[in-house]
Amino acid sequence: MVDVLVEQLAGTVWITLNRPDARNALSRDVNLQLQDLATELEDREDVRAIVITGAGDKVFCAGADLKERRGVPANETGPYINAISGAINAWADSRKPTICAMNGSAFGGGLELALACDFRIIVEGAEVGLTEVKLGIMPGAGGTQRLPRLIGEARAKELILLGRRISAARAYEIGLVNQVVARGGLRAAVEAVLAELATCAPLSLRCAKAAIERGYGKPLTEGLDIERECYDVTLYSDDRDEGLAAFAEGRPPQYRGR
Ligand code: COA
Repeated sequence: MVDVLVEQLAGTVWITLNRPDARNALSRDVNLQLQDLATELEDREDVRAIVITGAGDKVFCAGADLKERRGVPANETGPYINAISGAINAWADSRKPTICAMNGSAFGGGLELALACDFRIIVEGAEVGLTEVKLGIMPGAGGTQRLPRLIGEARAKELILLGRRISAARAYEIGLVNQVVARGGLRAAVEAVLAELATCAPLSLRCAKAAIERGYGKPLTEGLDIERECYDVTLYSDDRDEGLAAFAEGRPPQYRGR
């Protein structure tokens, strides 16, 4: 069975973690494939957005493959761990809009992968958690850094230091996910966001995302400089001319991402 399915529908690539029997756990192989995909899709002009989801209807991703990890010899642990953090950081670094379509629960590295995406849409009834401290380790693929930035330090400590599993509804309440949808409604909800993204200029999305990512946590004046630098890229673009022309002519714009 193929562990990672890749399908392109119009301008969107859908990536499906496909190890339902292991609750889509992130094996070394899956991590390497995810990292390669992140790199490969980056330069593809025909790809405007990426969706990451999981097979099955209960779990998006149960995190690191704990069975595989147990068999990793001590001298290979470092590279093994680098594969998971490398994959997740590669997605966080993607300049394209990324949506995590959480078809079920996400724990450990599974939630860290979701945190590396721009949008998280989860089905009701699912749970999320950074459970690593209950397993004698700690989040090591960005969780201790991305979660506090997203939901604040106090709530992140509650999740990380207590290894708590919380409901999708609670995750929404604290701003960890963007949307909670009925189980049968995930695809439609993701497609609605994709449709909104498709009306936006790809270069604008890339620059705005870069401004947020690069400026977050920086002193305001530094952040404003970063914003200006990113804005300047859009200012001299064909898409800007097209946006203004389309507005004046009362027609939908045809953006080309340059
Ligand atoms: N790594 C490897 N295998 C995993 C796994 C993981 N992270 N999570 C689940 N599996 C395997 C189970 O061992 C089981 O395998 P088996 O059928 O050979 O016994 C199979 O997936 C199904 O797991 P099960 O627990 O029976 O499924 P469930 O649907 O009742 O529960 C979870 C799913 C995700 C809630 C539960 O498996 C779980 O809590 N997993 C650990 C999550 C976690 O703490 N991850 C952090 C990793 S750092």
